[in-house]
Parts: sequence; structure tokens; C-alpha cells
Amino acid sequence: MFRNFKTVPYVVFGRGCFNQLDNILSQKRENPESFMVFMVDDVFEDNRLRERIPAKPRDLLLWVNVDHEPKTEYVDRLTSRVREFSNRLPCGVIGIGGGSSMDLAKAVSLMLTNPGTSAEYQGWDLIQHPAVYHVGIPTLAGTGAEASRTTVLCGPDKKLGINSDYTPFDQIVLDPELLSGAPLDQRFYTGMDCYIHCVESLTGSYLNAFSRSYGEKALDLCTEVFIEGGPEKDDKLMVASYLGGMSIAYSQVGICHALSYGLSFVLGIHHGIGNCLTFDQLEEYYPEGVEEFRRMMEKHAIKLPWHLLSAAQEHEIEKMVDVASILDPLWENALGPDWKKIMTREKMRDLYACLLRQCQA
Ligand SMILES: NC(=O)c1ccc[n+]([C@@H]2O[C@H](COP(=O)([O-])OP(=O)(O)OC[C@H]3O[C@@H](n4cnc5c(N)ncnc54)[C@H](O)[C@@H]3O)[C@@H](O)[C@H]2O)c1
Ligand SMILES: [Fe+2]
Repeated sequence: MFRNFKTVPYVVFGRGCFNQLDNILSQKRENPESFMVFMVDDVFEDNRLRERIPAKPRDLLLWVNVDHEPKTEYVDRLTSRVREFSNRLPCGVIGIGGGSSMDLAKAVSLMLTNPGTSAEYQGWDLIQHPAVYHVGIPTLAGTGAEASRTTVLCGPDKKLGINSDYTPFDQIVLDPELLSGAPLDQRFYTGMDCYIHCVESLTGSYLNAFSRSYGEKALDLCTEVFIEGGPEKDDKLMVASYLGGMSIAYSQVGICHALSYGLSFVLGIHHGIGNCLTFDQLEEYYPEGVEEFRRMMEKHAIKLPWHLLSAAQEHEIEKMVDVASILDPLWENALGPDWKKIMTREKMRDLYACLLRQCQA
């Protein structure tokens, strides 16, 4: 069976295109009673962007906090806030921020129309009802969350996305100007998420001409952005993120992402940083990718925050292995159908132990 995957139907791209948001949303405002929900990263609470958000008096503006990556429990609380605000459904949910805020918006738009708690839907194709119309507006580039069919959540016992055909945004607004205020190290870590998506997609067993085309172009753009730089670097990074997301949509990520999920779940390490710490140790599996990654780190004077691993206890490795080992498609993409023979629990444990030793080095 070939995958029949859903993509985002409407994309607007360009410097300043955020100004078109009001016009785009006006077509979705059904009647004078209807309202929109804006879910905006609270880093913008005291920022010029605040004044540019086209919220109307009837709309609900929720400042979301992403100091911790999105948890199912937070999604459920935000969904309740919307339900308490009105007994009608909103005519749109608009997520503005990095991957975390966009994922929160995706998840709330799904949970408004599906009963129960968001943890019940972590997995593949468990969602039964279409989401409320939802729009994604990235202010960091790299995760590909703007393009993907998942919203990644930490639940009571696992970090796993709600993967479904109802998850992708109905509209995305890609305005490179929104990246300008991002701290340089955060920009690097999130940008490397895209770079690693491409390396894992392009070296994986699921690769086909479709995902290769997106992955190769996105990888070239990452190299241009992080090795050459230049005035168009934010424009290129925003496109790279989208193309990288499209590449993994028809293939998969691999070893770095599987192990990084374990680090995030157990130690709360953010995705981009967890990926960089992990990728740096995966020379055996991705030799060329790791070499170029180190050149990019050097160019941007990035010192990886190994100290974040110092809180880890030996016994927590078991839980990390539990989280990583259920990600079958990622391992199969990286190592082929016989991956279980190659990547035993023992081997995963060794990889984590090796990573944790780095913080003592
Ligand atoms: N759905 C998907 O397909 C997918 C794919 C990869 C990762 N993810 C998820 O995305 C999340 C990581 O997203 P991310 O790397 O974009 O970071 P993020 O959204 O977690 O944000 C990181 C930090 O940057 C701040 N920030 C965001 N934009 C800013 C700006 N323009 N200026 C200043 N500060 C800004 C945030 O407030 C936060 O402190 C993780 O939760 C991960 O699981 C999702
Ligand atoms: Fe990623």
C-alpha cells in the first residue's frame, strides 16, 4: 500500500504576509456571533507582534507558555478554557509561535471536536472527527510542524504525536520577518531539527523519489543558511523547514529522533537541543551528516549544553529506552525491516549511556 497523505491546502509565503491574516480569517468568520481563538507564544506578550494580531473583540486570545514542551494535560486545560469561553465551537484556532505553540493549536483544534482526553489519541489515526479550522504561523523555522500530520505531545507515559489526516493545518502563513527576533542559539537548534530531518529522511529505507526531492532541496537550503548565511537566510530557512517536513511526510525520521524523544520525555530536554546532543554522538550511523553538523556548530560558535544531561540517573535509562523502543517506524526507516535484530534494548541502553557520559567529559 502506498501512503495517501494529506497536505496543507493553503500556503501564503513572503516577507510581511502576516498582514494578510485578517483578510484570510475574515472569509472564515461565519456570522456576528462567531469567534476565533488565537493561541500565541507568551514570548510575544510584550512584543510589537501583539498589536499586529488581528483579534476582534469577540475573539479569545490565549497566551501559551512553552517553557516545557506541550503536554497532553496542558492541551486538555486549554481546550477547557475554550469550552468555558463559549458553548459554541470557534470558527478557527490560530497558532502563532514555534513548533510547540503550533502543536498546541493543532491539538486544541482536534480536541474541541473529539471526546475524551488528548492522551487517548496519541498514536496513529485514532482521531474520529475533523478538527476545527486551524491556521499555523511559525515564528521559528525547522520543526516542519507547519507541514506535518502530527502534533507531538508528552503524555502520562510516552512522548508521541497525534498523527491523523485531521491534524494538518488548513492554512499556513510563512512570513520570514517573524523569525527576526529569535535568539541565535534557539534559531540554530530549531534549524538543526530541519537539517536532521533531511539527513534521516535521505539515508532511510523509506526513501522514494518524492521524499528525496524535498529532502535534497531542504538540505541544500540548510547548508546555504548555516554555512554561507546571507540576506535571504530567514526566507530560505522558512522554506527549508516546510520542505523538510514534506520530505519526512513520505518517509520518516530515524535514530536521532527516536533517542531524542527518550531524552525529552525523561529529562524534559527540548526537541531541537535533544536532537543536537544526540546527533553529535551518531557518527557511526550518519558520518557525513554529523561532520557537516559539526562544521555548522563551529561556524556559529555553538557549544552544546551537555550539562542538561547531568541530572540523569542511571536507572532512568530504562525509561528512555521504553520511550524510544516503541517508535517502530523510525527504527525501521533507519535500519530496515530487521531493525529489532540490530537495535536491541541492550544497544539502545549503550547509546544512551554513551550520551550521558558526555556530560562528564
Ligand atoms: N508537529 C511536528 O511535526 C513537530 C516536528 C518537530 C518538532 N515538533 C515539536 O516542536 C517543538 C519544538 O519547537 P521549536 O524548536 O520551534 O521551539 P519552541 O516552540 O519550543 O520554542 C522554543 C523557545 O523559543 C521561543 N520563541 C519562539 N519563537 C520566537 C521568536 N520569534 N523570538 C523569540 N523567541 C521565540 C519560545 O518562546 C521558546 O522559549 C517540540 O515540542 C517538538 O516536539 C513538532
Ligand atoms: Fe524533529
